[in-house]
Amino acid sequence: KKGNYDHFMQKEIHEQPHSLTTTMRGRLRANDVVLGGLKDHLKTIRHSRRIIFIGCGTSYNAALAARPFMEELSGIPVTLELASDLLDRQGVMYREDTAVFVSQSGETADTLLALEYALEHGALCVGITNTVGSTLARKTHCGVHINAGCEIGVASTKAYTSQIVVMVMMALAIGADKISTQSKREAIINSLPDLPNKVSEVLKLDNEMKDLAESLIEVQSLLVFGRGYNYATALEGALKVKEVALTHSEGMLAGEMKHGPLALVDETLPIIVIATRDACFSKQQSVIQQLHARKGRLIVMCSNGDASSVCPSESCRVIEVPQVADCLQPVINIVPLQLLAYHLTVLRGYDVDQPRNLAKSVTTQ
Ligand code: UD1
Ligand code: BG6
Repeated sequence: KKGNYDHFMQKEIHEQPHSLTTTMRGRLRANDVVLGGLKDHLKTIRHSRRIIFIGCGTSYNAALAARPFMEELSGIPVTLELASDLLDRQGVMYREDTAVFVSQSGETADTLLALEYALEHGALCVGITNTVGSTLARKTHCGVHINAGCEIGVASTKAYTSQIVVMVMMALAIGADKISTQSKREAIINSLPDLPNKVSEVLKLDNEMKDLAESLIEVQSLLVFGRGYNYATALEGALKVKEVALTHSEGMLAGEMKHGPLALVDETLPIIVIATRDACFSKQQSVIQQLHARKGRLIVMCSNGDASSVCPSESCRVIEVPQVADCLQPVINIVPLQLLAYHLTVLRGYDVDQPRNLAKSVTTQ
């Protein structure tokens, strides 16, 4: 049921304060996180040689968003695999690996074939899925249900933010025995209950994102630059625009800007730069300066109150978002880009919930 909304995608975007609440429900304690589906396996995970995240599309992007924190809290190397690429290469996998499969539906063919492959190689296989009883949930050794509620829009929105929060909670659970990160760990656990409120706050940008979409109706192409925790936000924001608004868009690692993308910069190509406060902030400030010097058409996403310090000129558009802990910032930052993709699609008159040529669950290779 769409309720008061015109489309499922719109409903699911606005539902995120609620879906994140249900994702965390029953799993937070004072200074601790309890994931019932993982607790008997944490020791094995902590002793693994490597943690490999495997998924497709938005689920892969969610793992990319969680990787920095997973590495920081576990102290274990974390790698990422697009399921199809792992299969194409028949990538190396060991018994000492923990393979984490991320899939909203739990039925994506490539992800399930990669799971068969990992099981054959003796890795511990962990599932992160929204679908109780799915093939992924049944065939993995253990896992976590994201409990985001049924997602109908083909473009994944609320499952993405819930997947990130589950992977952050997983990192918090794995890192429970590590002394050096204890204060950061506790600060994040204690800030999690407020995250849905921060998402409600960022949803108030809805009209602003509609205005921005109006200014972009005619564009042929769009770039999104991010780095660090928000490299994933760049890929996922661009994927949303591509999937539903049927507009060419590319997410890029800002650190690679000088190695090619800079050649594209001119007065017409819109470039969204994610420059919220974290350890990469000053590097992103310098990226903005360099794009401005080349007369780039800039749209900057920054933390509340930072507009004047990050924007080089009046012509630069700003999206101001609430600041949260660095590892949770991707949950906030994707929301305006989901809204932008949604409004751009509606304004262009395309089908929001059933984009051309795409399926919610890709069950064939
Ligand atoms: C479980 C119950 C939940 C109940 C809670 C109370 C289910 C589905 N969940 O939630 O209703 O309120 O206990 O303590 O009954 N699993 C996999 N692979 C996956 C996902 C999950 O093997 O991809 C396994 C887990 O290891 C676990 C089980 O499925 O054994 C349930 O996982 P999850 O729902 O995340 O566990 P709880 O949060 O403890
Ligand atoms: C499809 C969907 O391509 O599969 C995407 O249209 C999704 O939204 C991708 O991200 C992966 O799906 P799942 O269910 O494995 O997360």
